[in-house]
Amino acid sequence: MDVLLIGGGGREHAIAWKLRQSKRLGKLYTAPGNAGTAQCGENVEIRDSDIPALVGFAREKRVGLVIVGPEEPLAKGIVDVMEASGIKTFGPSGAAAQLEADKAFAKQLMRSGVISTAEGRVFDRFSDAKAYIASRDEPVVIKAVGLAKGKGVVVCDDPAQGILIAERIMVDRIFGDAGERVVVEDKLLGEETSILAFVDGHSIYVMESSQDHKPIGDGDTGPNTGGMGAYSPAPIVTEAMMDRITREILVPAVDAMNRNGTPYKGVLYAGLMITSGGPRVLEFNVRFGDPETQPILMRLQSDLLEVCLAVCEAKLDNVTLRWDPRPAVCVVMASGGYPDEYPKGKVITGLKEAAQLDDVAVFHAGTKLCDRGVVTNGGRVLGVTAIGATVAAAKTRAYEAVDRIRFEGAYCRRDIADKAIRRKP
Ligand code: AMP
Ligand code: GLY
Repeated sequence: MDVLLIGGGGREHAIAWKLRQSKRLGKLYTAPGNAGTAQCGENVEIRDSDIPALVGFAREKRVGLVIVGPEEPLAKGIVDVMEASGIKTFGPSGAAAQLEADKAFAKQLMRSGVISTAEGRVFDRFSDAKAYIASRDEPVVIKAVGLAKGKGVVVCDDPAQGILIAERIMVDRIFGDAGERVVVEDKLLGEETSILAFVDGHSIYVMESSQDHKPIGDGDTGPNTGGMGAYSPAPIVTEAMMDRITREILVPAVDAMNRNGTPYKGVLYAGLMITSGGPRVLEFNVRFGDPETQPILMRLQSDLLEVCLAVCEAKLDNVTLRWDPRPAVCVVMASGGYPDEYPKGKVITGLKEAAQLDDVAVFHAGTKLCDRGVVTNGGRVLGVTAIGATVAAAKTRAYEAVDRIRFEGAYCRRDIADKAIRRKP
């Protein structure tokens, strides 16, 4: 079966790499892809937001399945358009994708499903947001309701900073129209985890747990990014905790989506804070996480293509997934300057030497192939991923691979997975 994969990040290279292992895979097209996906199939020069061109391509090539990586095309309804053309497509409908694209919708859904989340309110006028924030004694979190590439959330130390940030988002529009409205939320304390599940409308199959590292700096300091590294499993998610998360969050969310008339299909990603009172939802995403997908798929032993088809055909009940019990760690190498301005076009060396190490996969994110070789082409450049007998061993191996790779201005955190090592040495 031929497949069209949409996106061009580290997540998409990991998906392409995993699909390549499937006996059922024929041709794999990735639009627009990167230098990594080009090694797994054919890149197609169509932007992931150009829905008419993507549908035209999928029809022309008669692909058997389309898999959508990023949130923007999902929120714009790519799945509806593909399916209207009779093309099987992995991902939620545009209406269901509002669970990520509209944080006010997500809050309302959680309320209707009695799903634990931070106390919060939605505002469409700055003066109202300001009055509310001023009335809070506790630190607050300000979130642009729309999509902002994972950067539309600011955790504030005190109400004064909260008011300043709300003004920057709502009045100065630092995140554009995504900041037309904001959610003001109480700050939750605890450790974060990402729980991803396959959902086929009714049935849920929870994947192994994982943990992202959002801030740019070691020790979780500095501004948030798309994610600087991840590991799987997350030791904080014990079997009992996973049961609770499934019962109290995932199942009620899927039920609430059905009651809402927006049935859910694809990957449901719950970003959670494990607080002293139990798991609380920070956000829902409607797709595979990036970079969580890199360590998760490195551990998946089953055929990803079969699972995606089962989701589309509402046959998830028949699926059992096998996982490598060993932990995996992904370290993101970024362009100097990210998450702010950064240069592009820097030549990357050492990729082969890194990939030669046992139990290592170097997933490309912002890379492209040109006459000078593989060059940087984005903020997050590579997701260097390793699997090992322990988290510590996987971490050591991942950094060994990182240290073989060079490009001007390369930056990575040096403490990826330390939280897991402290919890389960
Ligand atoms: P989100 O995109 O909503 O997951 O937010 C991005 C990041 O901001 C999360 O991964 C958390 O680190 C942080 N965050 C979001 N909401 C809260 C909250 N209510 N309390 C504490 N931290 C939060
Ligand atoms: N790793 C965070 C995200 O995928 O949104």
